[in-house]
Amino acid sequence: MKPYWIAPSILSADFARLGEEVENVLNAGADVVHFDVMDNHYVPNLTFGPMICEALRNYGIKAPIDVHLMVKPVDDLISKFADAGASFISFHPEASEHIDRSLQLILDAGCQPGLVFNPATPLHYLDHVMDKLHHILIMSVNPGFGGQAFIPSTLDKVRAVKQRINESGRDIRIEIDGGVKVDNIRAIAEAGADMFVAGSAIFSQPDYRRVIDDMRAELSC
Ligand code: DX5
Ligand code: ZN
Repeated sequence: MKPYWIAPSILSADFARLGEEVENVLNAGADVVHFDVMDNHYVPNLTFGPMICEALRNYGIKAPIDVHLMVKPVDDLISKFADAGASFISFHPEASEHIDRSLQLILDAGCQPGLVFNPATPLHYLDHVMDKLHHILIMSVNPGFGGQAFIPSTLDKVRAVKQRINESGRDIRIEIDGGVKVDNIRAIAEAGADMFVAGSAIFSQPDYRRVIDDMRAELSC
């Protein structure tokens, strides 16, 4: 298993050419496809649902698809995304009435569960569910939009999560999402993250491979 995963957020891709964009970014060295689902209710933006996930699978995308649910309620969409080919499914704990149930639904559907923490969401939601988690996603912007600036205080949160994982003795990925760039990825990795979502940093550039290579070069220092 690679120590670090680069997960481009297709929120910043050209939706008119989505299959090709995802193929290109994977050919450029990305590990995971980050799939931002927004409902115009939990967050003030609206994106895409399970049909688009299924369309990417039908197009031939084989890489893990990392579904980040920014929706409320959560549970109804879980089996739909599992059927559509999702690999990882994460949700925001404050958007679920029954966090353990939502995590178990993801496991029962054969996907890997994650919990997502906004910059001001407390970590106590982790207290009784560490045994069910594949990854913990720390938002380094407020959810809803690509292209926002990284909030530096979230680095302390990554460190706190890392400590909790170490104390648990479990193997849980720490994903960071929002404002990740070539010039801050090393500091984020040093804080403990090992899965890096990057939307605008990658898709705003003409050469995806160059950005991903530059990120990996930072990570290998
Ligand atoms: C924001 C999304 C992010 C977003 C990241 O709510 O969860 O995945 O696409 O975009 P950048 O990398 O541009 O901050
Ligand atoms: Zn996201």
